[in-house]
Amino acid sequence: MCIIAGSGLANAFEHATVIARIPYHELPCLPQAGIAGHRNEVLITDIGGNVTVVFAGRFHVYEGYSPLLITIPVALAARLGVHALIATNAAGGLHTRLRVGDLVIADSIVNMTYRSLTSSARGNAIELCSPWRSRTIEHAIIRGLPIQEGTYVAVHGPSYETLAEVRFYRRVGDTIGMSTVHEIEAAALLDLQPLVVSVVTNVLTDVPRRHPLTHHEVLAASQESGSRLRQLIEIAITTFDAR
Ligand code: HPA
Repeated sequence: MCIIAGSGLANAFEHATVIARIPYHELPCLPQAGIAGHRNEVLITDIGGNVTVVFAGRFHVYEGYSPLLITIPVALAARLGVHALIATNAAGGLHTRLRVGDLVIADSIVNMTYRSLTSSARGNAIELCSPWRSRTIEHAIIRGLPIQEGTYVAVHGPSYETLAEVRFYRRVGDTIGMSTVHEIEAAALLDLQPLVVSVVTNVLTDVPRRHPLTHHEVLAASQESGSRLRQLIEIAITTFDAR
């Protein structure tokens, strides 16, 4: 199992048994993530008896990385014989039912980054329905962990959306963020089963905010949701069946 930790979300894995920590700079094939909330280390962990590789540090197109560089962690995981990828991210809530702190499992991704791993064009929308995804949602609900579902809109960033963009993207999806899509494209190419989990760190409405949204606010909200994210990841890992 491999997990890519989104902004501020790596703390969720500190409670797992950490078998080893490898700083990214000791792995020459990996660039350095330059954004606050990404700490540039690989954690080899034991989550519920399953060895899980956690990439605590992600790369974004808005940092200037190509989709190919962004997906090196996925390629490394595939090389290690991993069969599944959980991509976590901090996301804005576009749908009016979403609240800060909600966990949303994506059923599809719309690629609005204008970058793609597989083509020079915008890239196709991705459907994410799998038996593993359904089992994870079912078990989470049985365990009393509320889960939302929806379409994740991947945008280039780094700026947050204007009111006009919020109105536009609301027609397209439920959550919005600046990552994940290229990792999931790579997972499809490398035969890793994907699961995309967003933590809603802010809600987007079409009325002006008093203060502009900041990365700091996003980080604070993602760190708050650590224990619920950890529970969901444990459920996902224990319900995964590699056959
Ligand atoms: N927009 C884009 N990316 C994000 C947001 C947002 O509102 N929140 C967290 N990542």
